[in-house]
Amino acid sequence: MQWTTEARYRRLSSLPDSDYADLQHRVNRAPWRQRFHIQPPTGLLNDPNGFCFDGTTYHFFYQWFPLGAVHGLKYWRYLQSDDLVTFNDCGIGIGPDSEYDSHGAYSGSALANTDGTLAIAYTGNHRTSDWTRIPYQLLADFDPKTKKLTRHTPFLNGAPTGYTEHVRDPKMWRDGEDWYAVIGAQREDKTGCALLVKNGGLLGELDFDLPDFGYMWECPDYFAIGDTDVFVSCPQGLAVDGYRYKNIFQAGYMLGKLDIEHLKFEHDDFIELDHGFEFYAPQTCAGKNGERIMIGWMGLPDMAYPSDKDEWQGCMSLPRVLSVEEGQLKQRPLAALTQHRKDSLNIDNIEQFSHGELVLDNADNQPFTLTLFADETHQTVVRYDSDTLCFDRSQSGELPAITLAEIPAGKGEHQRHYPCCTLTELRIFVDTSSIEIFINDGEATMTGRVFAPETANKLRFEGNATVTAYPYLS
Ligand code: FRU
Repeated sequence: MQWTTEARYRRLSSLPDSDYADLQHRVNRAPWRQRFHIQPPTGLLNDPNGFCFDGTTYHFFYQWFPLGAVHGLKYWRYLQSDDLVTFNDCGIGIGPDSEYDSHGAYSGSALANTDGTLAIAYTGNHRTSDWTRIPYQLLADFDPKTKKLTRHTPFLNGAPTGYTEHVRDPKMWRDGEDWYAVIGAQREDKTGCALLVKNGGLLGELDFDLPDFGYMWECPDYFAIGDTDVFVSCPQGLAVDGYRYKNIFQAGYMLGKLDIEHLKFEHDDFIELDHGFEFYAPQTCAGKNGERIMIGWMGLPDMAYPSDKDEWQGCMSLPRVLSVEEGQLKQRPLAALTQHRKDSLNIDNIEQFSHGELVLDNADNQPFTLTLFADETHQTVVRYDSDTLCFDRSQSGELPAITLAEIPAGKGEHQRHYPCCTLTELRIFVDTSSIEIFINDGEATMTGRVFAPETANKLRFEGNATVTAYPYLS
């Protein structure tokens, strides 16, 4: 498929039903389809959007280009869930149907209203006839029952003075009668930053204690956990620094305190949210019990994936529950995910494993090597050597690759390392084409896509730890 501009901006509704049915059929039969992760029915999935809880139901959307594995005309695909373990796919949530979002309904967020509707803030991507981009920040009401979207006039019309066309991804929160949003932006000098909006009016740029930190900040998020404020952003353009910033772009957080009056965020260091290969543009919401739940895109912009040839790309991470303990952010898998568990088996009793959960108890902090998706010529290795955990997908099968003409130094390799002093526990979630590793009960995570041949399904373990396997599906 040749992805001309015209093909990338083709609307789903212009495709004959039978052609779309063929595409769906093709994707359904494709290799590497996930079993317990959100994935697109066809085409490309990217950022989580509009993630919120209305007291009964979770609402979740994602950036979606239906027609193939490229970043084309973006829709919001809509899902609902009672428990974030299983989801109901409700089809198109937002289509690029107005002049404001004619070239894509880009990322944004939602808050539940008391009348059952959702308040949505998102970026309308518009291009003029000479292909100049105008970003509109839109507020809209969404009725989950009818999926009707009522757009209001944009609260930010194009880029504010001092910023380029890259202004997008409003993430809202409420404070009493007021609502606020942080928005990712690029200054005219091509450095990244975040803007703050109150009730639709621009308050200004947020001040951080950082040197120039990338050329654009995408998908910011802001929330409080207890007395600590958390600011999340996805800076683009950070250079590799040792084991840090090895992916093409980063998703990270700073703990601190937001001072709205002075437009300042006092904070600790920027720390990557994940030490693996793919975890980007995450979005959080306050869950059933007020807990902070985060879902990220297991993918990155400017990457090609082996599934592209079958016209699909991308999936979501599992939901993670965030907490701040002794000044550290912890990320644990959502407790309800244990519903997937059926039998528990000692690893000595299984040879094959490709869907489920592994729990590794390494109380004595011993080195080990866990090999997944193995056959004679393939393997994906999770190795602990007493001070570093290494996730190595270099021999896993077909590999994701950065598509930029110039790959920044040190990026795009297929090993990731997490330097840990001790390693006592791992929980690993394995699906057809992904691995999510939770280290030391929430201390850190390593996430990545893996595209092994279907027959590479052996599991091996060398070490003294006790490993329990919970196969999810036979
Ligand atoms: C991040 C991002 C956002 C944008 C969206 C478009 O992956 O580039 O900044 O709103 O994707 O799909």
